[in-house]
Amino acid sequence: MKTLILSPTEIAARVTALGQQISQDYQGKPLMLVGVLNGAFIFLADLARALTIDVEIDFIRVASYGQSASSSGTIRLAKEVELDLTAKHIILVEDIIDTGSTMAWLIAYFANRPTASVRTCTLIDKKERRQVDITADYAGFTVPDGFLVGYGLDYAEQYRQLTGIYHLEPTAITS
Ligand code: PRP
Repeated sequence: MKTLILSPTEIAARVTALGQQISQDYQGKPLMLVGVLNGAFIFLADLARALTIDVEIDFIRVASYGQSASSSGTIRLAKEVELDLTAKHIILVEDIIDTGSTMAWLIAYFANRPTASVRTCTLIDKKERRQVDITADYAGFTVPDGFLVGYGLDYAEQYRQLTGIYHLEPTAITS
């Protein structure tokens, strides 16, 4: 069973506000959104269209080994960014920051690249689950613990297409 926690209307309003904030902060600067696949694809698509400034868009994919319902902290690069990052202002776009392991790994990875700056944007910030000291520069919603699906977020690759974000009851999680 799943319970709606963020409606499409609530998400759209928050994404619009984030887009306006980012547009203001990066006015006149070469901006690139880098979406972290797969979960970020829907959020990035909406966030990009909420911007009022020029932007380049690319994606990166990392894989983590271990449990299915949370990341293990053991991470490897699965797909590299392909656009030229030189002197670009990068915003790493995530659907969710949970333990913080993935974003910490990405920040360390981008620290070695010739960017102008690197910031982070997540739609969902699960602060109480944090194991690594990471604070998102832009965050849509801070939510308590609980397994979330929809708007890009999956459970076993299902539910990403849902237009709202739902809490999935533990009885629905089988591994
Ligand atoms: C999810 C999410 C983040 C990461 C956050 O990705 O998209 O990348 O977990 O967890 P963390 O803060 O504990 O590292 P997942 O590995 O489920 O892959 P997906 O994006 O393909 O759903």
